[in-house]
Amino acid sequence: MIPQSFIEELKMNCDIESVISSYVQLRKRGRISTGLCPFHSEKTGSFTVYPESQSFYCFGCGAGGDVIGFIRRIENLEYVEAIKFLAQRAGMNVPEDAAEDKTAILKTKILEMNREAARFYFSELTKPNGKAALDYLLGRGLLPKTIKHFGLGYAPNEWTALTDLLASKGYRYEDMEAAQLSRKSNKSGRYYDVFRDRVMFPIIDLRGNVIGFGGRKMSGDGPKYYNSPDTPVFKKTKNLFALNFAKKQKLDHLILCEGYMDVIAMHQAGFTEAVASLGTSLTSDQCRLASSYVEEAVLAYDSDEAGQKATKRAVSLLDEVGIRTRVLTIPDAKDPDEYIKKFGGTRFKKLIEQSAGSTEYELSKISAKYDTDSPEGKILALKEAVNLLSGMRNPLEREIWAAKLARDYGTTKEGILSQIQSKIKRKAKAENARAISGQSVSSTTFAGAVPEKLKNPAAAAAEERLLGSVMRNPDVLSTLSTELSSENFTCELYRLFYEKLLSTLSTKAEISLTLFGEDFTLEQQNIIARLAHLAREHQYSSEDALEAAKTILRLKDKKSDKEIAELSGSELAAYIEKMRKAKK
Ligand code: UTP
Ligand code: MN
Repeated sequence: MIPQSFIEELKMNCDIESVISSYVQLRKRGRISTGLCPFHSEKTGSFTVYPESQSFYCFGCGAGGDVIGFIRRIENLEYVEAIKFLAQRAGMNVPEDAAEDKTAILKTKILEMNREAARFYFSELTKPNGKAALDYLLGRGLLPKTIKHFGLGYAPNEWTALTDLLASKGYRYEDMEAAQLSRKSNKSGRYYDVFRDRVMFPIIDLRGNVIGFGGRKMSGDGPKYYNSPDTPVFKKTKNLFALNFAKKQKLDHLILCEGYMDVIAMHQAGFTEAVASLGTSLTSDQCRLASSYVEEAVLAYDSDEAGQKATKRAVSLLDEVGIRTRVLTIPDAKDPDEYIKKFGGTRFKKLIEQSAGSTEYELSKISAKYDTDSPEGKILALKEAVNLLSGMRNPLEREIWAAKLARDYGTTKEGILSQIQSKIKRKAKAENARAISGQSVSSTTFAGAVPEKLKNPAAAAAEERLLGSVMRNPDVLSTLSTELSSENFTCELYRLFYEKLLSTLSTKAEISLTLFGEDFTLEQQNIIARLAHLAREHQYSSEDALEAAKTILRLKDKKSDKEIAELSGSELAAYIEKMRKAKK
């Protein structure tokens, strides 16, 4: 642990404006400064620096925090690394901590070994033993320059080729094991190569470090791909393959696919905005990572059933972080790689341009499932479509899709809308009944929850996320205090707690649960403690707090169905415009 006193002194010596101005051209505007956000591409300056609170915030992408947070993001550093970085800039010595130093040294070692390994694998491709691997890659349509660009390679069919090489360069066996490059044999106690006789795909992070590998076998049984397990420098669920290349350009969307070969084939065909989640299960961390670069993703998962299932899941995960999705339907090929090989890049580009938004995609799936020429088929399809639309929160959106359904199925919009309404009512009733009987309504609502949660689950969830992340990252509070006042809260308890938190800003008290002991009942304290727990579990960052603040403000502006019905034509138009802006 670095002592708090040091961090405070460091922050004093690193004025946020002067630190940021070495990365961003800032313009003074009264008490604040603005500039073009370095974390997303934009033409207007939404990026704001607040010298008074020594914080920054971008209204475009929601990035924000203090000077340490800025350095973490822009230099892609861990907390402690960012502190060291700033200390060096300020000419200060960080008090040493033996344990932390050790992991930092190990991390550096692992990255060095990974780089050595990648170089080794690449050079093996040009050796006689690697010829089959090279032929394999060329046979799959890769050009030599693509192989070089991605640093592809071959792990030879030997037990200790890499292990011996690393040992000869002075690396320790335990460290090779920590890097997941070597493993210790239970029988002989000797170390052997983890990757053998596999075509190698290095995984590179945004700073250009080789953080892990995927290895594909060319024949034989066992898993087709083997990926490095997590190491101190690699968390599979937090990285997207090829994002390092994709983010080199101005992006308006990312193409998300499943596999290494899909990404590489797409890049070779000019679609350098393609990244892979490495397998079918996209994680929310990966979505959040993507959301700092784009607002739209094109899903190009495999056309098999697993891929289609994964697509649905991805649509809702991406929706949660505010990324719009379009879904690619890949006809006559199992994945983008095969499609491009069969039909070429130009046809693939057409596919992307024609790809439908996710609702359209869901609806087309439904109508494909039934024989919609028969009355029975029509009824079944409509029933399922109504169910889908009843899950939409925005009544205007529901109306638009109801109109489309009415056209497609030759029925009336009003009829469909009233079906949707009664479906919504039935769902709400069922939820109520379950809540009253003490069962959990959903994973996030439970008996001891705040009462408002039932009526406003989305707002309550955002408030919970915000408070949880503030408890983990108290530094974000000063930025929040200028963005979000407590009146915007929907849940009474959360509003009170937020006010308590804000009060620590002026009294300089430390944020801890004990501080609020006397102001809340035990039951309320439980609820608050649970927020802290959830925040730890989800590893909420200060960005989460700022994102949640945005969500709270957006939801606050959203009107209920009844309110919308009472708006005049021009008011409605203004409201739609406002919602559209908020969504951006
Ligand atoms: P696919 O089997 O669809 O990969 O798995 P692919 O890229 O089309 O494979 P090729 O074209 O036969 O080479 C998609 C992704 O899932 C992960 C890999 O990241 C792969 O790229 N995967 C797949 C594994 O991790 N292990 C496996 O055994 C299979
Ligand atoms: Mn494939």
